[in-house]
Amino acid sequence: MKVLVLNGPNLGRLGTREPDVYGATTHADLAALCVEEGAELGFDVEVRQTDHEGEMLGWLHAAADAGTPVVLNAGAWTHYSIAVRDACSQLTAPLVEVHISNVHKREDFRHHSYISAVASGVIVGLGVEGYLLALRWLALRK
Ligand code: DQA
Repeated sequence: MKVLVLNGPNLGRLGTREPDVYGATTHADLAALCVEEGAELGFDVEVRQTDHEGEMLGWLHAAADAGTPVVLNAGAWTHYSIAVRDACSQLTAPLVEVHISNVHKREDFRHHSYISAVASGVIVGLGVEGYLLALRWLALRK
C-alpha cells in the first residue's frame, strides 16, 4: 500500500535549519528513514517536500482521488493556510499531522493548527521519530 509523507515550506532545509529546534537530520536522511520504516511495515512510502503551496494542494488532491493515506508536516502553512486545510478535508484515507518540534512550547502563533481538526491524529514534539510513529499507527490501522 502506498503512503505519502508530505513536507511543507522550509522542511527541505532540515539539518541546517535551526538545528537546536529541528535537530541534525537532513530531509534526505528523514526520507530514507521513512522509506525504510515503511518497507518494514509493508508500505511503499514516498516522501516529498515543497515550498510552493499550489504544489502541495495538487499532491493532496491526488491523494484524495487515489485514497492514499498521508503523513503531513505542513510547516508554517499549518498555522494560517485554510487552502491546505480544505485540501486535507477532502482526503478519504487517514491523515496524520506531524510536527518535529513541540509547537505548544513555542510562540503563540504556533499553538493553533488549521489542520488538526481535519486530521485523524496529531504527533507533536517527538522529533523526526514522529514520522516513524505515524507510519506505525497507519500500519496498525491497515
Ligand atoms: C513545524 C512547526 C511549524 O511551526 C514551523 O513553521 C515549521 C516546522 C515542525 O515540524 O515543528 O516549519 O511544523
